[in-house]
Amino acid sequence: MSSRIARAYATFAFGPGAAIYAFLVDHDAWRRDVRAMARLVSGQRVLDLGIGPGASALALAAADPARRPIGLDRSRQMLRRAAAAAAAARVRLPLVRADAGALPLRPGALDGATGHSVLYLLPDPAAALVELRAALRPGGRVAFLEPRAGPLPARALRGGVRVAAAMLLWRGMSRLHRRFTEAGLAALLDAAGFRAARAWPVLRGFGVMATAERP
Ligand SMILES: C[S@@+](CC[C@H](N)C(=O)[O-])C[C@H]1O[C@@H](n2cnc3c(N)ncnc32)[C@H](O)[C@@H]1O
Repeated sequence: MSSRIARAYATFAFGPGAAIYAFLVDHDAWRRDVRAMARLVSGQRVLDLGIGPGASALALAAADPARRPIGLDRSRQMLRRAAAAAAAARVRLPLVRADAGALPLRPGALDGATGHSVLYLLPDPAAALVELRAALRPGGRVAFLEPRAGPLPARALRGGVRVAAAMLLWRGMSRLHRRFTEAGLAALLDAAGFRAARAWPVLRGFGVMATAERP
C-alpha cells in the first residue's frame, strides 16, 4: 500500500473519523496503559504529543494535581474533542494545533513529554524526537507508547468487542505506517540525543512503552 493511501487513511481516521476513534479507545484497557505512561514523566509543564481525544492528557493531570499538561495535535476535530473532555473533567488544558515535526515551543520550555500512538504515524519520527528534545529542559523525561512489531498476540483482543475493534484498528493503521521493537524504539530515542532509553512490551504484547531522558 502506498504512503499516499496510508496518509489519507490517517487523515480520515483522526479528522472526520475522530468520533469513531474516540469511541473505540474509550475503555479501561486503553486507559490503564495511558495512566502508566503518565506516571513515567514528572514535572509541571508536560506536553502530550498527538493528544487525540484527550485521555492521555487527562491521565497526565490525574497523575499529579500540580501538573499543567499541554495538548498538541494537528487535527482540529481531535483538539475539539480534547477540549470537551477537559471541560467535562474540569481540567485546565491549553491546546496547540501544530505539527509534531515543527513544535512551536521555545528551547527548554518543557519538563516532560508523552506520546501515545503518535510516533508511528510521523513521516520522520527521528526528526520529531530531535525537535522534542530541544523543547525539553535538561533532565526532562519522555514516555511513548507505540504499536509493537511482531505477530498479533490473540490475547490482546480479549476484553470485549470495543477492545478488539480498537486493537484491530491500531493493528491495521500500524501496518500501513510503522511498528517498533523494544530495541528499535530505544535506539530511535538514543539517536535523537536522549539518554537512558529503555523499552518494554505493554498492552498484552500489542504495544511497546519507552522512556528516556534529555541529558
Ligand atoms: C492514534 S491517535 C492517538 C491519540 C491519543 N494520544 C490516544 O492515545 O488516544 C494519533 C493522534 O496523533 C495526531 N497526529 C498524527 N500525525 C501528527 C502530526 N504530524 N503532528 C501532530 N499530530 C499528529 C492525530 O491527529 C491523532 O489525534
